[in-house]
Amino acid sequence: MRLVACSLALLLAASCKNDNAPAAAPEVRYPEKDRAAEASRLLTGADWYRHAVFYEVNIRSFQDTNGDGIGDLKGLTSRLDDLKALGVDALWLMPMYPTPFVDSGYDIADYQDISPDYGTLADFDALIAAAHARGIRVMTDLVLNHTSDQHAWFKESRSSKTNPKADWYVWSDTPSDPNNGCGTANDTFGKDAWKLDPTRNQYYFHRFYAGQPDLNYRNPEVVKATLDVARFWLDRGVDGFRCDVIALLYESATKCDFIPETQAYIKQLRAVLDTYKDRTMVAESTDYSGSSAYYGSGKDMFHMAFNFSYGYLWGLPFAGTLAASVAKPFEQALAKNPAGAQDALPIGSHDVNRAFVAAREIESRWLRAAFVQMTMPGTPYIYYGEELALRPGTQVVVDGRDVARTPMLWSKGAGFGFTTGKPWIAFGADPEKTNLEAEKADPKSTYSFYRKLLAVRRGREAFGAGALKILPADDSSVLVYTRSSNDETYVMALGMDEEDAHTTTVAGANLPGDAQLLFGEGTLTREGTSAKVTIPAAGMAIFRVR
Ligand code: GLC
Ligand code: CA
Repeated sequence: MRLVACSLALLLAASCKNDNAPAAAPEVRYPEKDRAAEASRLLTGADWYRHAVFYEVNIRSFQDTNGDGIGDLKGLTSRLDDLKALGVDALWLMPMYPTPFVDSGYDIADYQDISPDYGTLADFDALIAAAHARGIRVMTDLVLNHTSDQHAWFKESRSSKTNPKADWYVWSDTPSDPNNGCGTANDTFGKDAWKLDPTRNQYYFHRFYAGQPDLNYRNPEVVKATLDVARFWLDRGVDGFRCDVIALLYESATKCDFIPETQAYIKQLRAVLDTYKDRTMVAESTDYSGSSAYYGSGKDMFHMAFNFSYGYLWGLPFAGTLAASVAKPFEQALAKNPAGAQDALPIGSHDVNRAFVAAREIESRWLRAAFVQMTMPGTPYIYYGEELALRPGTQVVVDGRDVARTPMLWSKGAGFGFTTGKPWIAFGADPEKTNLEAEKADPKSTYSFYRKLLAVRRGREAFGAGALKILPADDSSVLVYTRSSNDETYVMALGMDEEDAHTTTVAGANLPGDAQLLFGEGTLTREGTSAKVTIPAAGMAIFRVR
């Protein structure tokens, strides 16, 4: 308790205290724990996904093993130890199915096979086994809204108006449909959403490219067939799914986003998942303002849903100095999500520019964006190459998003360890600087930063599942927040000013113990119920309260 100015008589009476000041938290001592044991405890059982660090892999660009310039499953398997060394616990594989590749594999021609570019089902089984042997889980991309126009289902459906699969897709006599229009005449890429099929002489609806006809979920056979696809991969041992544009499954007259029928389907999918042990699913949310709708009751829909309001938009707050704008998406999620919801937290993906670009090439921005990703509530999803600050490419093979899909760079020299042949797409900029070999040797590299940050986070329950509290710093350019679980509290400080160091007072921090710096630079001292934080320009710090 804080002493305030008072008379000697009162002091002697031992009752001199400021009655208006809040009582300071009782002093506690938290002993250090065996972090490796904690990590294996946290990563075991149904809640593993809350504590895991995910890694999105573009198989095509990860590691080639047969010299055709295309990454493959064997290549990915051969790199599992590198991922383990980084601190990765789970993979999300971009689509690995046979595909004509009009949307980089998000146009699936066979849900139950592997693209010959990437290998075979046996290679897939070997990958799962090798990953599981290392404690790494594997999630696949479940693309259920549409198939490729080369899928056998669509070939049959388009062959006549009367075939057994005639009603498996969304057909219309006119290039629009009052019952299925979704309130839009255009697909996601700005073209007509209806395409004439000359054989059937009818139009089909496609939300994405014309080579991606939308399935008709109002047909119960489609519901059954797609749930069987999920079972097929769960039976093969996958740990769950990243569900592609899952809100768009059912069409209606005016709206196609997360309508009640789609929600009912998601509950069925979840029920299928729940018949297996410890499987999880994560939604690609189509709502940038938040992901709360995807959790349902908290137990009947998704385990995770992407928080894109930070994940895809962090470049904006980091262009300014206002700490509150970094915190906002997290405060909103906290206010809206049902209890126990766990957002998935990226800072980039195969759909948007490289973090390097979002950061306007300013290193301290991509590093701080990752710092927030690893310390705020949510399960972090690293997009391959982010740990190297992979630069964008310039070649376009499929579409503009290819700038963020260039090959991984493993070592110096020809092919950069990715291939002995000619890569399917040109390498990104500065490959001599941004390869694993070069960055491993440099303690100041982005790779060294990621590896250290993930190691600090590992085996600490507070980061995976702890409560968030944003503390009221009196300096608007410093973000101070705590994460705490049962018996541990961590304090994070983030400096938004890229020019100058700052010192700020945090009234009511009420920390239960002294602070030990675990990561970054800065100081944190307790002053009664307040705390004083100093942070260098563009600084970051993690303190353990003990
Ligand atoms: C998702 C994918 C994107 C793809 C689209 C259609 O948004 O992330 O890459 O183009 O769905 O499947
Ligand atoms: Ca290959």
